[in-house]
Amino acid sequence: MENILVTGGCGFIGANFIRGILAEDDFQGRIINADSLTYAGNPESLADIAEIYADCYHFVRADICDIKAMENIIREYGIDTICHFAAESHVDRSIAGPDAFIQTNIVGTFRLLELCRKYANQLKRFHHVSTDEVYGSLGAQGLFREDSPYDPSSPYSASKAASDHLVRAYHTTYGIPVTISNCSNNYGPYQFPEKLIPLMILNALEEKSLPVYGQGLNVRDWLYVTDHCRAIRMIMEKGSSGETYNVGGHCEKQNLEVVQTVCDLLDEIKAPETVVRRRELITFVKDRPGHDLRYAIDCSKIERELDWHPAESFESGIRKTLAWYMENTEWVHRVRSGEYLSWIRQHYSA
Ligand SMILES: NC(=O)c1ccc[n+]([C@@H]2O[C@H](COP(=O)([O-])OP(=O)(O)OC[C@H]3O[C@@H](n4cnc5c(N)ncnc54)[C@H](O)[C@@H]3O)[C@@H](O)[C@H]2O)c1
Repeated sequence: MENILVTGGCGFIGANFIRGILAEDDFQGRIINADSLTYAGNPESLADIAEIYADCYHFVRADICDIKAMENIIREYGIDTICHFAAESHVDRSIAGPDAFIQTNIVGTFRLLELCRKYANQLKRFHHVSTDEVYGSLGAQGLFREDSPYDPSSPYSASKAASDHLVRAYHTTYGIPVTISNCSNNYGPYQFPEKLIPLMILNALEEKSLPVYGQGLNVRDWLYVTDHCRAIRMIMEKGSSGETYNVGGHCEKQNLEVVQTVCDLLDEIKAPETVVRRRELITFVKDRPGHDLRYAIDCSKIERELDWHPAESFESGIRKTLAWYMENTEWVHRVRSGEYLSWIRQHYSA
């Protein structure tokens, strides 16, 4: 039986990961979701899961920097696998205030690794979920490979780079069984609407302005979130200890193209009322400092070694995402109005 500690499971990717794993026919284990519930953590994303899987899903409000709380979880639930998502994840916020990024992403990861060292006899795998942003920016050509040098630009990517190095060092120095995935930009259900795609979907639905940094020429490689979650699961099950796997969608798009696609698909589903085409709502705003020009992933290693391939194209994934945000108006309303935070305050003492 697997006893998996998922950190940051109330966030966007963690919540999708927990949903995916519990839906597996042959999953016999338990999931313990430890999340401190920052603004990005929303237990309502798993409210149905908590009811349906009450016997094998448990939520604990805990900060990964709180070593005592994390140790209690590891002991009490006999944790043998850790899948580490918890992080401060928004680049813009890291520019405005890097402190929390250093604490959670670096110190928090360090605390977990120390516990892995202490509980080495029961721990089979520590999987660290990381980003392609650690590699810095590409020019017009080239792809990030697992052996590309690290060259992070923002406090966010620098903090993730530091945590990746710590994870590798704990493998090399103490023999902790680790794997790392560096993934490109995700999109899909339950993403907090400060990130590009949900922000544009919700603004475009309400026919509000669609702010795009610079001229919208920055290129990202987009991956539908459930494809990322499946990759993580495969790495945890079949990946070799000490290895890093790049995960990407073979789907490079300029930001402007992404926003235009959202506009055009929404026009198709629901004609706008205040403009002829939603593209007219796009406005270009001052670029953010250190905005990397292009990220692109070479994911041939995970394709070759673990036979993982993305199941969704950008076209199919973005249609699913649009449909999800249009159907889940209650979730959207509660997140945007901040009502989910009042619920957290009522249910969990700080
Ligand atoms: N979103 C992407 O496109 C993307 C791509 C590649 C990698 N990643 C990585 O995947 C992971 C998850 O990303 P996401 O987009 O789901 O992030 P998110 O911001 O949506 O969720 C982060 C979660 O971590 C929790 N958290 C934050 N600080 C914590 C702490 N100190 N203790 C416990 N919980 C804490 C938050 O409450 C939240 O639930 C991150 O490590 C991120 O770096 C994200």
